[in-house]
Amino acid sequence: MNKTLNQTKIFSLLLLVSLFLACNKTEDVVEKDVRIVEDFNFNWNFKLGDFPEAIQSNFTTTDWRILNLPHDWSIEGDFSEEHPTKPEGGALPAGIGWYRKTFTLPADWNGKSVSVEFDGAYRNSEVWINGHYLGKRPYGYISFAYNLTDYVHFGTQENVIAVKVDNSLQPNSRWYTGSGIYRNVRLVATENLYVDHWGIYVTTPKVLKDKATVAFETTIKNDSTGKRVFKLVNTILDSDDLEVVVSEKIDTIQPNTSYVTRQQMEVLNPVLWSVENPYLYTVKTKIYEGETLVDNYETPLGIRYFSFNAKKGFSLNGVPTKIHGVCLHHDNGALGAVANKHAIKRKLQIMKDMGVNAIRVAHNPSSLELLQLCDEMGLIVQVEAFDVWKKRKVKNDYNLEWDEWYKRDLQDLIRRDRNNPSVMMWSIGNEIREQFDSTGIAMTKDLVKIVKSLDQTRPVTCALTENVPEKNFIYQSGALDLLGFNYKHEDYGTFPENFKGQKIIASESVSALETRGHYDVTSSDIKFWPPAHNEPFDGNDDFTVSAYDNVAAYWGTTHEENWKTVKKLDYIAGTFIWTGFDYIGEPIPYPYPARSSYFGIVDLAGLPKDVYYMYQSEWSDTNVLHVLPHWNWSLGQEVDVWAYYNNADEIELFVNGNSLGVKSKKGEDLHVSWKVKYEPGTIKVVSRKVGQVVLEKEVHTAGVASKLVLEADKSTIKKDNYDLVYVTVEVNDDQGNLSPRADNLIHFEVKGGGKIVGVDNGYQASLESFKANKRKAYNGKCVVIIQSNGKAENIQFKASSKGLIAATIQIEVE
Ligand code: GAL
Repeated sequence: MNKTLNQTKIFSLLLLVSLFLACNKTEDVVEKDVRIVEDFNFNWNFKLGDFPEAIQSNFTTTDWRILNLPHDWSIEGDFSEEHPTKPEGGALPAGIGWYRKTFTLPADWNGKSVSVEFDGAYRNSEVWINGHYLGKRPYGYISFAYNLTDYVHFGTQENVIAVKVDNSLQPNSRWYTGSGIYRNVRLVATENLYVDHWGIYVTTPKVLKDKATVAFETTIKNDSTGKRVFKLVNTILDSDDLEVVVSEKIDTIQPNTSYVTRQQMEVLNPVLWSVENPYLYTVKTKIYEGETLVDNYETPLGIRYFSFNAKKGFSLNGVPTKIHGVCLHHDNGALGAVANKHAIKRKLQIMKDMGVNAIRVAHNPSSLELLQLCDEMGLIVQVEAFDVWKKRKVKNDYNLEWDEWYKRDLQDLIRRDRNNPSVMMWSIGNEIREQFDSTGIAMTKDLVKIVKSLDQTRPVTCALTENVPEKNFIYQSGALDLLGFNYKHEDYGTFPENFKGQKIIASESVSALETRGHYDVTSSDIKFWPPAHNEPFDGNDDFTVSAYDNVAAYWGTTHEENWKTVKKLDYIAGTFIWTGFDYIGEPIPYPYPARSSYFGIVDLAGLPKDVYYMYQSEWSDTNVLHVLPHWNWSLGQEVDVWAYYNNADEIELFVNGNSLGVKSKKGEDLHVSWKVKYEPGTIKVVSRKVGQVVLEKEVHTAGVASKLVLEADKSTIKKDNYDLVYVTVEVNDDQGNLSPRADNLIHFEVKGGGKIVGVDNGYQASLESFKANKRKAYNGKCVVIIQSNGKAENIQFKASSKGLIAATIQIEVE
């Protein structure tokens, strides 16, 4: 039973010693960690289908696959319109799958507390250990753990863990979910006196320039039958691992109980966590009995303060900061839902390079890695709990589980994520149906109360669509700290009047549609698509959408229109663009074979669409000059040439050396454009500041495709079975110009320490498998994902295609 904080006070405080040491070196004798955290991802057996007998220890799995987690079986399947996931869910198979793993535990673990931690399994996972049922977690995005101690054998006798994952009830999502144990699994062994699962809560209640107060709440568990006296030592280390301050406390815990204890420390002259300098301290928690270390635990600590203001928007560490955010779904393109840290890092880095400073995790709990990376890379996070409450959006939504699980799931989410300094907003939902009826009032109050009972340091928000105050019952609850509004940018002007005194963020915006490298010839009119009011649907026959920023879903708008609006309104804390990357599923506006979304600023393979550079020119300090489209058209055809630029006062366009004049952005403009009669050759743009050239860019008419060109995002790979290298493959002419419409089928070969784990070209209606050693180029490009296979051999990668000169690349194994 958990003791309350009041009880805690009665039991605790035999002795409290707080030592404030300025930058002392950690003890010379390095203490060995006693908490054992083992990667539990390797060597699982897997089979699609339902095998209830697999919980038995003597069940044989000879015809089961052997694989490593994290694993998503949906992404391995073929596309079909018939799959019950439907194109909205990615048109990939779902169903039921079983995982099973046989393992032994060292004899000297006997007496320890052993648990297994799952970061996420989609969905309805059920877990058995040695035939004993441990439990079920319906929500596919929630992290959970089971204590195995009473059911495992130590020494040579084998243990069997079996996991059933049931994603058969479809449709259950508005986007691609993936299926399986798609996030990491760990085995944790501690002594029977230990820091509980998610048992540390660190906050920084007061941050001043010269001093920050750091508060700790530590939940300690005693799984033994005896009362224990222990010493709790919390140490803050700086980013060089130097000790900053230590707090010690001697305390007592009763048998078979868990117990919360509190400490406070001060950090002098703290280095603040910010987007530019995401400085991280570490909190090392140690529990001693006498002189013996019985548990150790690490928590990242970022010292920062922030606020939302109804008039001035958001500020971080006192600095007004517009939220330049993107919404991201969890899939990692060709890897599916597999939560691979390197894939997530690449995704975030591409966003960061564009000038993004915030991520909204739409619309569900994220992987742990995403938050760790946001902590490390300096990205502000809006964590979101749910896409539905009791009222569903699709037939078998989470609403089916709501009554039984919402409280537990929300509590677990907050407990898990409340130490990440990057997390600055809790969203209790996205476009929740209950905003439209009075049940929304009580439900919002209830959910906000749950969040606040676990964390009061961050505002609670919700992504709303109804912006008439009397009609929005979630708003009327009065319980939200921050109002999130999705879309309707044209109404932002009414917000200060309609929502007096409220803090506001554009929780979702834009929903523009684009296909990378595809250019409808004229860019002049903005089209809304699907059109409102049942206007005829006149899409392109090849399921493409123009990459000029001129098409958007009718509830949204173009990237430029949205940013022009948000940019000038200080009371809008910022905007989260729908979306940073294309994602699998929701292929609005097209039917099958379209099967992934068109909303991304970057395509599914990770290749930027042109509008990426509009954001980069506005949101980053990087000097930008980007010109579109490609330069292969019919003679005499009129082509719109657009350029995005910054840090310059004028820009000049030359066609085959002839100037078409100097232009500059006027007023709110975010690009300049020219209408050009096409002639083959070269277009060149030059940006200048006070007469000095800042940047020049050229695009050449490509000749006949003649060769493949490779570019890897890294030149080395770790031999750890996880690390990834992304190789972009381009079809070029003999002068090195991109063949902008090339769709050659390219074959890949990999030798040495790597294997191909995904291929993609970003085309939203491609029905080629993501798991193959070949891929067609799309508009001249495709991407191959190579993963370490654990061997200490350099990787030789070759791409070849009929009629083209092949290309090879070597990746060194670290
Ligand atoms: C929003 C919704 C997103 C996505 C988007 C597409 O209304 O919150 O999940 O569906 O529309 O435009």
